[in-house]
Amino acid sequence: MLEQFAKDVDEGLSQPKKELSSKYFYNKKGDALFMEIMKMPEYYLTRSEMEIFTEQTQDLINAFSVTPSNYFELIELGAGDGSKTRKLLAALSDQGYQYDYMPVDISKNVLDLLEDSLQKDLPQVSVKPKHGDYFEILQSLKNSHHPKVVLFLGSNIGNMSDETATDFLYQLGANLQAGDKLLLGADLIKPAEVVMPAYDDKQGITREFNINLLHRMNNELEASFDVDAFEHAPEYNETNGVAKSFLKSKRDQHVAINATGKVYQFTAGEKIHTETSRKYNDEILLDILKNTDFTIAHKFTDRKQYFADYILNRE
Ligand code: AVJ
Repeated sequence: MLEQFAKDVDEGLSQPKKELSSKYFYNKKGDALFMEIMKMPEYYLTRSEMEIFTEQTQDLINAFSVTPSNYFELIELGAGDGSKTRKLLAALSDQGYQYDYMPVDISKNVLDLLEDSLQKDLPQVSVKPKHGDYFEILQSLKNSHHPKVVLFLGSNIGNMSDETATDFLYQLGANLQAGDKLLLGADLIKPAEVVMPAYDDKQGITREFNINLLHRMNNELEASFDVDAFEHAPEYNETNGVAKSFLKSKRDQHVAINATGKVYQFTAGEKIHTETSRKYNDEILLDILKNTDFTIAHKFTDRKQYFADYILNRE
């Protein structure tokens, strides 16, 4: 794991356009910072999707095409704190649906916290946490032939390039059966005045989230980043809907990383690309789905049309 981190960092920092994978944001500190981000007034994504889950719970459930008497698996990829999913779980259990809730996450920490709090708040729900990489878990799903509803919420897909998203959804489809459903949360393209503050909040929590990557390399890879010599630099292209975050070097500098045994040069103003947060519309999603086994069955949006929860059908 650590070796993989060192390898990825070395590869990312050795390219002409430096980059680091956003998956490395999520250590214990990063998990906590992301929970803070979800509570920020500027981070509309969480509240928009929450509105859909709160006000259209029954419509979502109906779109799953499951019946109370037929057992199914409700699988959530990247579970987080499960606050939106709780709305579904409570309604499903009230209506006597037979199902297991299987949250999947790479963070054992997140899964343990979620399991404990669900046990406390919704003890009637059968929770079967799965710890691991999405792809690993997806493979293991293939062995079960029960109907499945997969949740991939919060516009987590937005961290993937369109090409990776296509691969991912193709793979997901290959591990499901016809009629299974995917509930896909996608942030919609909207003006920069709304998007930018979500990635550049007043309190500086997102800044800290981004800078945490430097702390993490210092702690885990014995790197020598001067964290004050980099700034949080988000960008958003309103036309194509792509938001990106960078760490921008404030001056010419070099940074040694013990775990890679190398020294990396940064010029003043040079940027490390640390995250992509893609925004969508139907056309972009349809283009991604073209080479997968999924079709759009339903689309639910919040009142402001900031966010969409698509129900995709595995054909
Ligand atoms: C969890 C990937 C959906 O891209 O909006 C929040 C992560 N990054 N603020 C996003 C994030 C900066 C978030 N996702």
